[in-house]
Amino acid sequence: MIKIGLIGCGNIGHIIANHAGGIEIVALFDIFFDRAKELEKMTGARAHEQFDTFISEDFDIVVEAASVNAVMTYAHRVLEHGKDLVIMSVGALADPAFREGLRESARSNGKKIYIPSGAIFGLDNLKVGRISPIKKLLLRTVKSPASLGVEAKERRIIFSGKAHECIKAFPKNVNVSVAMSLAAGRDVDIELWVDPAVDRNIHEVIIEGDFGETFIRVTNVPSPDNPATSYLAAQVTLPLSRSSRCYMDSRTRSLSAHDNHDPANRKTNTRSRIEFVW
Ligand SMILES: NC(=O)c1ccc[n+]([C@@H]2O[C@H](COP(=O)([O-])OP(=O)(O)OC[C@H]3O[C@@H](n4cnc5c(N)ncnc54)[C@H](O)[C@@H]3O)[C@@H](O)[C@H]2O)c1
Repeated sequence: MIKIGLIGCGNIGHIIANHAGGIEIVALFDIFFDRAKELEKMTGARAHEQFDTFISEDFDIVVEAASVNAVMTYAHRVLEHGKDLVIMSVGALADPAFREGLRESARSNGKKIYIPSGAIFGLDNLKVGRISPIKKLLLRTVKSPASLGVEAKERRIIFSGKAHECIKAFPKNVNVSVAMSLAAGRDVDIELWVDPAVDRNIHEVIIEGDFGETFIRVTNVPSPDNPATSYLAAQVTLPLSRSSRCYMDSRTRSLSAHDNHDPANRKTNTRSRIEFVW
């Protein structure tokens, strides 16, 4: 059974803990110790007040479900301690210097970083953008004003621009746009809308390129404990975490939970032990 350490004991942390069949949560860490203690009662995993004792426990993978800041603070140390890393707060990787440093750290430590597909579908096929020109790559996200912490009496756009800029303004809300950018190898255009009439998080992905055109619309139920986080995004970490074959086979390439379920996608790469999702 795959053993994981969990950074972040909030909404996603609870969903992972509630569906932990097939994985063993060994260690818990949260900036608020009482949250880690709460999950300790639910899971039997050990709550840690200090990151150093957390990371010294015996487990294979860290699942980060905390914040962009947590990735910035702990990701290098996770890899240096010989653990693979699942990153939910993908926005941290919008910073090129940090991203390249982390990539190098994973490479030199023989470890992997996994980026789940989060609140959308189709991250895997976005990789076509790295080999074939894409003319248009747009994410249109619509959320309730409450989930973004803004006031709005009617539907209105609150951001239009590039993903790497949007994540700075909304680090808890548009991680998926950065995941898309990493997969496609180019900065995604994003429109962020608020609409008081919606009770779901809506992501529309519009792609036009040499391959043709695609339109994907995902209507997500917000997580019960955090309307900013789509339930799908939280759930998608579970098949990732359960798939010991995916995680432990160092030759396996993985981009999304979808990849892991499809044996056809379990391609090997003999050139490098480290495979990144971007
Ligand atoms: N990739 C995606 O598509 C996607 C989708 C949804 C959410 N997310 C991201 O996943 C993360 C977790 O989401 P959530 O809904 O569980 O959030 P949450 O706010 O419910 O829980 C986050 C937990 O992490 C803890 N935390 C924050 N910063 C920390 C730090 N520096 N060190 C230790 N603990 C820290 C908080 O105390 C909290 O308990 C967020 O960054 C969110 O933006 C990503």
